[in-house]
Amino acid sequence: MTPDKKTIFSGVQPSGNLTLGNYLGALRNFCRLQDEYNCYYCVVDMHTLTVRQNPEELRERSYALLALYLACGLDPDKNVLFLQSHVHSHAELSWVLGCYTYMGELSRMTQFKDKSQRHADNINAGLFTYPVLMAADILLYKSDLVPIGADQKQHLELARNIAERFNAVYGDTFVVPEPFIPGNGARIMSLQEPDKKMSKSDTNVNNFVLITDPRDVIIKKFKKAVTDSGAEIRYDENEKPGISNLINIYASVKDVTRQDVEKEFEGGRYGDFKKAVGESVADTLAPIQERYAEFISDKTYLESILRRNAEKASEKAESTVREVYEKVGFILK
Ligand code: TYM
Repeated sequence: MTPDKKTIFSGVQPSGNLTLGNYLGALRNFCRLQDEYNCYYCVVDMHTLTVRQNPEELRERSYALLALYLACGLDPDKNVLFLQSHVHSHAELSWVLGCYTYMGELSRMTQFKDKSQRHADNINAGLFTYPVLMAADILLYKSDLVPIGADQKQHLELARNIAERFNAVYGDTFVVPEPFIPGNGARIMSLQEPDKKMSKSDTNVNNFVLITDPRDVIIKKFKKAVTDSGAEIRYDENEKPGISNLINIYASVKDVTRQDVEKEFEGGRYGDFKKAVGESVADTLAPIQERYAEFISDKTYLESILRRNAEKASEKAESTVREVYEKVGFILK
């Protein structure tokens, strides 16, 4: 860790195969920021238990997510790539912070409301206190910046409030983190239902594109993407949510503005546009898929990264927990 660099923390849940939304909203920025910051990128396995998981699958998906971090271009020597459950401080700080978080705040979280509707038979306490664990993740490393998609903004605001509240009682302890939310990639929507976000836990496979989807599947999914009855390739989230989502995806993948996309396809047909979007996404993901296949086949290498980085992360996290324990009045051992 370089002392004059600021710190980043972010995480992804190994709760399913990662989508294009995860890539454009988060992972791609993890890579872009890795030289400028000291980065902690976590596989947040503890968060996944809020929804029932198959243990064997969870383990496999945790390795897969680490392999994907590497395949996307994260350098394991530059970044601390680790598993949340390997660092016990996350659970410890989460308990303390939970005592500085109000029930009212947690019940206003839209993700809690959404997930408790979708999993009405399992509205567990973990689902409710999930944002406290997320605050602990971030605050443990005194993170300055948190790259996330737009759906996590509300959780980050809560983490900021908790940090400020704690600091107000005990003096400067936590850094109050800033979100880093990309422009066009911040909210990639479902291809079939563009009024909801693209999600790895969706049951309809045509709603999402996976980072690991083969080229022909990607192109087919974009071909099937819903558009609207008009004929113009124009950005308008309310009137043309399907086309607007495709414009966003293309702009994000090509690193151009929405206006550039409108200009490029002015007078063009939906079918040709959808083909171009599909091909550009497939081209972007192809090299990642190749590297992924290599990394996932080398478990020994993945395990060595996890072991090494768990130690690095623990060092920082444990020192924060000691500081917090001392401030709240525990006797240090
Ligand atoms: P998760 O695992 O749902 O998603 C990982 C990251 O991908 C972003 N994302 C999207 N971005 C754009 N469009 C989409 N359709 C889309 N879907 C997902 C998410 O915003 C996220 O950045 N609670 C977090 C994980 C977490 C975390 C943290 C993140 C736990 N602790 C601390 C940052 C800092 C989550 O469930 O992300």
